[in-house]
Amino acid sequence: MPNNNVFSANSIRFIALIVFTGFIVFSLFYQFNVFSDDIYINLGISFLLTSVFLLLTFIIYRTINIDETLNRSIFFLLGLIPFFTLIAHFLSQYNPLFLFMLPLGIIIIVIKYFFNENLSFGIYFSAISSIFLSLNPSIQWFFLQIFTGLLILFLPFDSKKPTRIISSIIVVIISSILTSVSLKLTYPAFQPSFEELITFVIIQSLLLLPAYIIIPFLERIFSFTSAFSLNELGNLDNYLLKELALKAPGTYQHSIQVSYLAEAAAQKIHVNSQLCRVGGLYHDIGKLSNPDYFNENNQNLNPFENQSFHRSAALIIKHVKDGIELGRKYRLPEVIIDFIRTHHGTTKVEYFYRKFKASDNFFDVKEDDFTYPGPKPFSREQSIVMLADTIEAACRSLKNPTESDLFDLINRLVEYKIKMGQFQESKLSFEELNLCKEAFKDYIKTFYHQRISYPEPVNSGQEFL
Ligand SMILES: [Fe+2]
Ligand SMILES: [Fe+2]
Repeated sequence: MPNNNVFSANSIRFIALIVFTGFIVFSLFYQFNVFSDDIYINLGISFLLTSVFLLLTFIIYRTINIDETLNRSIFFLLGLIPFFTLIAHFLSQYNPLFLFMLPLGIIIIVIKYFFNENLSFGIYFSAISSIFLSLNPSIQWFFLQIFTGLLILFLPFDSKKPTRIISSIIVVIISSILTSVSLKLTYPAFQPSFEELITFVIIQSLLLLPAYIIIPFLERIFSFTSAFSLNELGNLDNYLLKELALKAPGTYQHSIQVSYLAEAAAQKIHVNSQLCRVGGLYHDIGKLSNPDYFNENNQNLNPFENQSFHRSAALIIKHVKDGIELGRKYRLPEVIIDFIRTHHGTTKVEYFYRKFKASDNFFDVKEDDFTYPGPKPFSREQSIVMLADTIEAACRSLKNPTESDLFDLINRLVEYKIKMGQFQESKLSFEELNLCKEAFKDYIKTFYHQRISYPEPVNSGQEFL
């Protein structure tokens, strides 16, 4: 499983709130004996519970700043709890022992696939707690679910190899049978019977398989991007990246550096570093349409020699639109296309804008002609890639910089982007910006170490020749 740093202080708060509200709501219903033998009344109650949950979710959503990656998914994540509770209610109407067959582990498989382990277990725990509190199955049921849940969490259910998934299911079946039989031996009064228990846990384990049918649908409906998809997209053998290496080698090198810089900063502020890395790799793919317009691929020729400043700026700005189109053509997830869309925010093509300002026609200026269409970055990950992009390009343009030249430049670039209001939408705090700056400086210091000019050469390097 690739490292997916979605889990942060906000996620902890988020999980704690889910568990807390879940317990309160279900405990209240349980305490007041709201559940009855009538299936229709129970159905109504379940819908009421769902509404209360959604209302609470909405309040949480509005009042605390949750990770951007979780923001879009909050209704889906919280919806899983009442959804499974509702199914549990229906099942127990027929036979309360059928609860042993309910494949709650699907929650872990799906959430772990799209988010991470911690969040998956948080939601799973809330779901089994809500079922336990509202339907009052035996404590042995609760124990068995915790045990199975932990097994599913640690076994390679997120593997792409069917053989590993099948072997994981076999491990779950064997372990669940052993655990349930030991429970039965320890507590003989515990229902169901041996045979029923074994049949139920086998069915429960096999019913985990439909999770793999649900996942592609969820990916499409909610535009979730799994850690797997990101991992595949981050592979440098990917077609689009290979094309970039071949047709725009300068942009390719730049993108790789941006991805490392962005990843380092994301790790520092505990946002999704894998998303930042992949966003960094693809942010400039639009340059594939006209690689020679960009000086990293073409340092000797000036393709804008015979073009007006307006036209030159328009050709540069176009790489954002071209990137979005290319991303769509090659079916990049929307979350990656958002990096292409926002990496220049609403900044200007400064080079041509300044040249135009210095020219005689300046009175006729239309600022919009030199400005990227935006939007501004709307997630912290996108803001990080925007900064990494500018910092990489600017540092590379310096000739023989000293360490303080580079640090100075990084400070000024960050200040400038703040002044231009580029981080207003993403809620990147001042403290987080400072941490990002530190990460950028650490990386740049290491990377440019050999290129940093020293007042006195340490040695001539002859001994290595
Ligand atoms: Fe760009
Ligand atoms: Fe770039």
